[in-house]
Amino acid sequence: MWHPCRKAHVNVGCVAVTGSQLAGQERLFASRKSERMAHGIAVIDQQRFEFPAWTDKLRPLIAVGALGGLVYVTLIVWFGGSAKTLNVGFAPNQPVPYSHALHVGKLGMDCRYCHTTVENAAMAAVPPTQTCMNCHSVLRTQVASLEPVRDAYATGEPVHWKKVHDLPDYVYFNHSAHVARGVSCVSCHGRVDQMEVVTQVEPLSMSWCLDCHRNPYPNLRPPELVTDLAWEPSEDPEALGRRLAEERHINPSTDCSTCHR
Ligand code: HEC
Ligand code: HEC
Ligand code: HEC
Ligand code: HEC
Ligand code: HEC
Repeated sequence: MWHPCRKAHVNVGCVAVTGSQLAGQERLFASRKSERMAHGIAVIDQQRFEFPAWTDKLRPLIAVGALGGLVYVTLIVWFGGSAKTLNVGFAPNQPVPYSHALHVGKLGMDCRYCHTTVENAAMAAVPPTQTCMNCHSVLRTQVASLEPVRDAYATGEPVHWKKVHDLPDYVYFNHSAHVARGVSCVSCHGRVDQMEVVTQVEPLSMSWCLDCHRNPYPNLRPPELVTDLAWEPSEDPEALGRRLAEERHINPSTDCSTCHR
C-alpha cells in the first residue's frame, strides 16, 4: 500500500502523527524511551529541511499517485461491496419450508394478504406468525414442518426468516413508490408464485436500477394488476407503458440523491 511516510517529500504529515503518538506514548512509557523517540523525531525533522529544491517538482506526481490510490481503493470497495447484492440465484434455506408456489400459485392467495405494507410503505415486510396461524391453527395443525411456526406463536418470538434480497444500507429503496405506480413484483422478483423457495433473480446492482429508471415503459401496467404475476398486456407493452407514463406523469429520477440520501 502507498503510504506518505515512504515518500520523504510529504513527511510533514508523518512527523505530525509521530509527534502526537509520542505525546501519548510519553504518558505510558519511561522517560528514557520517550527521549530516544524524541531524538528520532529530531532526525526526521532535519532530513525534511535537507531535501533539495528540485524535489518540489515531484509534488504534482505524488498528488497524482495519491489520487490514483484513492480511485484504486474506491474500485476495490465498489466490486467488493457489489458481490453480495449481485447474488442472482441466492436462495437461503428457510426455517420453515413455506412455499409461494403452493400458497400463491395453487391456493391463489394475493401477495398483500401477507406482505401488507408493500403498497403503502418502503418495506414490503415479511408476515407475522399470526398471519400463518389464521389458517394453520385449524389446518395441518400437527405437521412437523409447521412446528417452528407453532413454537413462535406460543412464545411470541418471531420466526427467523432469512433475508433473500438485501441492498447495502447506503441505498434507499421504496416499495410503495414502485408498486403504487404500476411496477409489478414480477419485474424485480420474478415468478415468485412458481417458487418453492424464494430465489433472487435480478442483480440489484446500481446499473440494474438505472436501466429501468431510464426506460421504465416495458415494466409499467395498471397498478391494480401489480400482484398478478402471470398478467400479460394484450397490446405492445412498450406502447402501453408510454401511454400510462404520459397519463400518470411517471418519470423515474436518475439523480444520485434519489437512491443515496
Ligand atoms: C436508481 C437508484 C440509484 C441511483 C439514481 C444512483 N445509485 Fe448509486 N447505487 C445504487 C445501488 C442499488 C447501489 C448498490 C449496488 C451494489 O451493491 O452493487 C449503488 C452503489 C453506488 C456506489 C458504490 C458504493 C460501494 O461501496 O460499492 C457508488 C459510489 C454510487 N452508487 C454512487 C452514485 C452516484 C454518484 C450516483 C449519481 C450519478 C448514483 N449512485 C445514483 C442505486 C442508485
Ligand atoms: C401466505 C403468506 C404469503 C403470501 C401470500 C406471499 N408471501 Fe412472500 N413471503 C412470505 C414469507 C413467510 C416469506 C419469508 C420466507 C421466504 O423467503 O420464503 C416471504 C418472502 C418473500 C420474498 C423474499 C423476501 C426477502 O427476504 O428478500 C419475496 C420477494 C416475496 N415473498 C414476494 C411475494 C410475492 C410477489 C407474493 C405474491 C405473488 C407473495 N410474496 C405472497 C409469505 C407470503
Ligand atoms: C389462507 C390460509 C393459509 C395461510 C394464511 C397460510 N397457509 Fe400454509 N397452507 C395452507 C393450506 C390449505 C395448506 C395445505 C395445502 C395442501 O397440502 O393441500 C398449507 C400448507 C402449508 C405447509 C405445508 C404443510 C405440510 O403439509 O407439510 C407449510 C409449511 C405452510 N403451509 C406454511 C405456512 C406459513 C409459514 C404461513 C404464514 C407465512 C402459512 N402457511 C399461511 C393454507 C394457508
Ligand atoms: C422495483 C423493484 C421491486 C418491485 C417492483 C418489488 N420489489 Fe420487493 N424488493 C426489492 C428490493 C430491491 C428489495 C430489497 C430491499 C432492501 O434490501 O432494502 C426487496 C425486498 C422485498 C421483500 C423483503 C422485505 C423487505 O421489504 O425488504 C419482500 C417481502 C418483497 N420485496 C416483496 C415484494 C412484493 C410482494 C412486491 C409486489 C407487490 C414487490 N416486492 C415489488 C425490489 C422490488
Ligand atoms: C422495473 C423498473 C424499475 C426498477 C428495476 C427500479 N425502479 Fe425505482 N422507480 C421506477 C418507477 C417507474 C418509479 C416511479 C417514478 C415516478 O413516480 O415518476 C421509481 C421510483 C423510485 C424511487 C422513488 C423516487 C421518489 O421521487 O420518491 C426510488 C427511491 C427508487 N425508484 C429507487 C430504486 C432503486 C434503489 C432501485 C434498484 C434497487 C430501483 N428503484 C429499481 C422503476 C424502477
